[in-house]
Amino acid sequence: MPRLNENYLNIKESYLFAEISRRVSKYEEENPDKKVIRLGIGDVTKPLSKNVVKALKEGAEDQGSAESFHGYGPEQGYPFLRDRVSEYYAAFGAQVDSDEIFISDGAKSDTGNITELFDADNVILVPDPVYPVYVDTNIMSGKTIKYMSGNAENGFLPMPDDSVHADVIYLCSPNNPTGAVYNKEQLKVWVDYALKNDAVILFDAAYEAFITDPELPRSIFLIEGARKCAIEFCSFSKTAGFTGTRCGYTVVPKELCFKATNGTEMSLHAMWFRRQSTKFNGTSYVVQRGAAEVFTEAGMAECRENIAYYQENARTIAETLDKHNIRYFGGTHSPYIWFECPNGMDSWGFFDKLLNEVQVVGTPGAGFGDNGKNFFRLTSFGSHEATKEAMERIEKIL
Ligand code: MLT
Repeated sequence: MPRLNENYLNIKESYLFAEISRRVSKYEEENPDKKVIRLGIGDVTKPLSKNVVKALKEGAEDQGSAESFHGYGPEQGYPFLRDRVSEYYAAFGAQVDSDEIFISDGAKSDTGNITELFDADNVILVPDPVYPVYVDTNIMSGKTIKYMSGNAENGFLPMPDDSVHADVIYLCSPNNPTGAVYNKEQLKVWVDYALKNDAVILFDAAYEAFITDPELPRSIFLIEGARKCAIEFCSFSKTAGFTGTRCGYTVVPKELCFKATNGTEMSLHAMWFRRQSTKFNGTSYVVQRGAAEVFTEAGMAECRENIAYYQENARTIAETLDKHNIRYFGGTHSPYIWFECPNGMDSWGFFDKLLNEVQVVGTPGAGFGDNGKNFFRLTSFGSHEATKEAMERIEKIL
């Protein structure tokens, strides 16, 4: 009999969004006449840009001809895409070399897979509330997590506690689920803490494209010292509508090195390269061709237009909450609005009420951690029409 990875006994039976989808499908089966509006999972609704689609088609054509056919690609991704990512960073002032970029099928896989580079004995510091992938993947690999409290008082932006030592720190800014964004001074405090503790920061920047204030950092690599203590994850999902097409990138600076117990210097860049080239054969050539188009002037303009469209939805949601004096966070530099459940309700109770009474789906804050138990997340990724209708329906029960 195989001995199974019993760490799986310590995680919830289903992943948060799978559980929500199960409950919604059950409701729809039982109530086929009701029209459900989904503002739960952060899945985009705007299609890919025309230029991206054109490049995807050209990529597919290349694969159909012996002269332009591509077999296995470079493990880190094609230079034509890595170079564009590097230039994108340079345009907002961060220095990231093309060979420090690893193209992947998205930030979710990479933020989960990166746990393999760390021994089970580390102190893993994770904010509460947080994107559940960080928690679940650490538990799956037998690691012990210490939580740091994100709450209304600190604006859901926990800062380091000098009396607590950490080895691995997860930060997400703009934050999923709260929409809160660290400023440069706050991130500098985190970088200094990591350098002092000889720790690594795993920085999830998947929502950076929603930042409109040039003073707010879109990358941890805008902070002095970060290249010695941080890995950054990013994605085309929310920036360019790739949730179904799948492409992302992870930046591992070459100077990110730590000592092994026998004194050997180990490079996280070399380890991730080794891991990826052993377990991953790269993102498809066709998808990488499409992703490269995102960085052209026309591609970026279309992305900005779509993001502005979603930001208008966030304003629609915020206006309704303002009208009813409901406290909320996020929604300005983020597609997510995080608000207090009315009348002190718990978040799963509020989820059920919204689904059963007005057929609107959101995400209960409890799914992101204990500190979310009285909060609720709505996404602005719907259409204008669906968002407006959802808010009219929600108003009926506020
Ligand atoms: C979310 O709704 O939190 C995100 O869509 C999840 C993800 O990006 O994997």
